[in-house]
Amino acid sequence: MADTHAKLTVNGKEYELPIIQGTLGRPVIDIAALQASGFWSYDPGFMVTAPVESKITYIDGGKGELLHRGYPIDQLANNAEYLEVAYALIHGDLPNSEQKADFFQKIREHSGVHDQLRKFFEGFRRDAHPMAIMVGVVGALSAFYHEHLDVSNEEDRELTAIRLIAKMPTLAAMSYKYSQGEPFMYPRNDFNYAENFLYMMFATPADVDYKTNDVITRAMDKIFTLHADHEQNASTSTVRLAGSTGANPYACIAAGIAALWGPSHGGANEAVLEMLDEIGSVENVPEFMEKVKSREVKLMGFGHRVYKNFDPRAQVMKETCDEVLAALGINDPKLELAMALEKIALEDPFFIERNLYPNVDFYSGIILKAIGIPTSMFTVIFSLARTSGWISHWLEMHSAPFKIGRPRQLYTGETRREFVKAEDRK
Ligand code: CMC
Repeated sequence: MADTHAKLTVNGKEYELPIIQGTLGRPVIDIAALQASGFWSYDPGFMVTAPVESKITYIDGGKGELLHRGYPIDQLANNAEYLEVAYALIHGDLPNSEQKADFFQKIREHSGVHDQLRKFFEGFRRDAHPMAIMVGVVGALSAFYHEHLDVSNEEDRELTAIRLIAKMPTLAAMSYKYSQGEPFMYPRNDFNYAENFLYMMFATPADVDYKTNDVITRAMDKIFTLHADHEQNASTSTVRLAGSTGANPYACIAAGIAALWGPSHGGANEAVLEMLDEIGSVENVPEFMEKVKSREVKLMGFGHRVYKNFDPRAQVMKETCDEVLAALGINDPKLELAMALEKIALEDPFFIERNLYPNVDFYSGIILKAIGIPTSMFTVIFSLARTSGWISHWLEMHSAPFKIGRPRQLYTGETRREFVKAEDRK
């Protein structure tokens, strides 16, 4: 609802631009009226642009607040199961007992994958990065479920959301098993979501009495919850942009996985461990810090576009990290190095002045390493968890009329020139 207007004068003509206030956060200036002005707005990196209206997630970067459907992230992570959070992201509220049982059952029913999908895995080299496999196989799901791909049909959309959330742990674990040359493990109905993922990752057919460790299972579930959604981040915006063309949801989520892969986004947790490898040991930290300060490298797992005080997910993740390390009694030099690095960075004026704090990926990388998850799987786990957020945004977009996303540009290339044949070119 427009409360008031901003006035903008362009070439002597005044435009009244409605100011819209959401339920929380900064108001926005609706610049649609600029269409008539002969100008575009210019905002590389979407620093001040809100391309959508959404009711799913709210972030106050200054306060370090993250709310999903209004619920604070620490309350969700410490009290709810990931699948309850996924339900809330999709439906707007946490489920009551009946809704919870029904949703969890549907997820269990859809956790298997079509047997033919195994053949896709066989097409990849054994040393393929699991994210490369995920981009391929998740996109390929559209070839298996084309009878329920009418994006204008609400039931089809909801079924697809269930299928994606249900199958991601299975596909993620398959991408790992394939790289190890081990047989795929099928999901079990007696395990919960996080247990099932750990079971499919680490068990073999010989482990008839496979049991998970409660601390690890709970930590895994928290990692899923803490990565579930983060409003209009790069990968979610990618899913929305792809979805705005009417593309099928599996293709849209595959696009999200591709966007997540980059080291500035979901690839950061893997990059943290690579950085620790590069540093080697605690004595080398000062030298590495000099490289960071001279802009040669970045301290991976630090800094955030939105959180300029602290990342509320990182706080919960740090507590979980301490619990996991205590429970497993880990004595790993890499983890000691990570802790030393965190301490030094938090006390260094370079980081303090720039408000650079450990983000969620710093601690999740350490927890995953402690659990025994190989580094190449870190971003896969992020993509598994973020699927509930991506699909919630896709569903929200499809629940109301929307336009195809089609940004404009500031063109700075050649002006018009005439074609010249190759033999006449200089
Ligand atoms: N190490 C060293 N310096 C940094 C870092 C870092 N990790 N991050 C930012 N800076 C410096 C940057 O050089 C700049 O300094 P100056 O003002 O002197 O030029 C200042 O801090 C502001 O940085 P920025 O690049 O303008 O910040 P941004 O909001 O554009 O970038 C970021 C945010 C997350 C891309 C960046 O902090 C970064 O690359 N961090 C490392 C990668 C990482 O951990 N990413 C995971 C983000 S959390 C998971 C997710 O949401 O995907």
